[in-house]
Amino acid sequence: MIKVLSIFGTRPEAIKMAPLVKKIEASSELESVVCITAQHREMLDQVIEVFDLDIDYDLNLMTKGQTLEGLTGKVINEVSTVIKECKPNIVLVHGDTTTAMASALAAFYNNVDVGHVEAGLRTYNLDSPYPEELNRQIISRIAKLNFSPTEKSKQNLEQEHTVGDIYITGNTVLDALAYTVKSEALPELKSWLGDDKLVSLTMHRRENLGEPMRNVFRALRRICEKHTDIKVVYPVHLNPKVQDIAREELGGMDRIKLIEPLDVSKFHTLLSISHLIITDSGGIQEEAPSLDVPVLVARNTTERPEGIEAQTSRLIGVGEDNIYAEMDLLLTDKELYSTMASAPNPYGDKRASERIVKHIVEYYG
Ligand code: UD1
Ligand code: UDP
Repeated sequence: MIKVLSIFGTRPEAIKMAPLVKKIEASSELESVVCITAQHREMLDQVIEVFDLDIDYDLNLMTKGQTLEGLTGKVINEVSTVIKECKPNIVLVHGDTTTAMASALAAFYNNVDVGHVEAGLRTYNLDSPYPEELNRQIISRIAKLNFSPTEKSKQNLEQEHTVGDIYITGNTVLDALAYTVKSEALPELKSWLGDDKLVSLTMHRRENLGEPMRNVFRALRRICEKHTDIKVVYPVHLNPKVQDIAREELGGMDRIKLIEPLDVSKFHTLLSISHLIITDSGGIQEEAPSLDVPVLVARNTTERPEGIEAQTSRLIGVGEDNIYAEMDLLLTDKELYSTMASAPNPYGDKRASERIVKHIVEYYG
């Protein structure tokens, strides 16, 4: 049996690793072991519950207001202990978080192969997204198997002369959608919405904390004044810095609802009934097109240019006036709206996990 140790720690990694873990568990040639660092706690536990995942090691590392360097040190140490005990053939990490980067380093120091799921995304700007761009690049220097979601991400790795093998698989987040959307969910929210259009909002990136985030929120307040037929729902990330800004800028408004993070099943259902979404999230850029929802990306850069090219998303920066203008355009220009809502999803076909399992079996078989 080929022993696969999957390690993840935050909400988005868990959502994208869950369908893969299920496929690894179902394989007769692979043995699945799962370690969570719990870099996130409540937001990670929500995902584990929805997917009913069995966890072999829970490192329970999250502290309120944790620092990048503090967390990195703890992950390297504690994941190394798990690797020594578990003795896997391969460690799988996902994406670009501190958990992923530090776990890849721990595997490297313990001479264990690393497989990188969602490999090759790049902005080539170390400040944006910060620190994720560096995390990805570090993992790519270590990984033996790179599972790239798209042709573009494969090309990024090729031009960097990455040492590992590269496979195009699609993004596992689309596999996750098969488990999550439930049309009967969120009855109270639907009745609050009535016949109005739903604008969903998420914001959490470190480089957007402060003025950029305030700009997005102010633009949204202004757009609610102009368009009286929209309502906004914002499941606020549990980072206290995000919560403070959200409350200060958007608290107490009738048509803007600030709520706790939703579990992924409810959140995907929320997305599915949304007219549009404004976000700085990575994963949402990939999943919203499958639910026919246009995405306005409130960031200066994106490592997901495929959506911009396919016209499923628009990169609108973090300046208040431009964000206002872009939202206004999408709410008034019916042709643009319908082009974006109906554009095909460039990030995969819901079979990424199956392909990743096949490549692992072939590599070690
Ligand atoms: C992390 C990832 C980011 C990813 C994001 C997904 C890094 C460097 N950043 O950023 O790439 O996009 O997760 O959401 O790895 N908190 C809770 N409960 C939770 C989760 C967070 O209370 O369930 C609070 C804690 O106070 C914690 C803080 O949020 O210290 C920040 O969490 P952290 O994982 O360090 O950073 P994120 O901004 O969430
Ligand atoms: N998400 C969720 N509940 C919420 C908000 C988002 O389950 O209340 C999901 C969303 O569907 C996506 C993932 O969380 O799959 C994105 O996570 P986040 O934006 O925190 O991180 P990023 O993708 O930017 O790394």
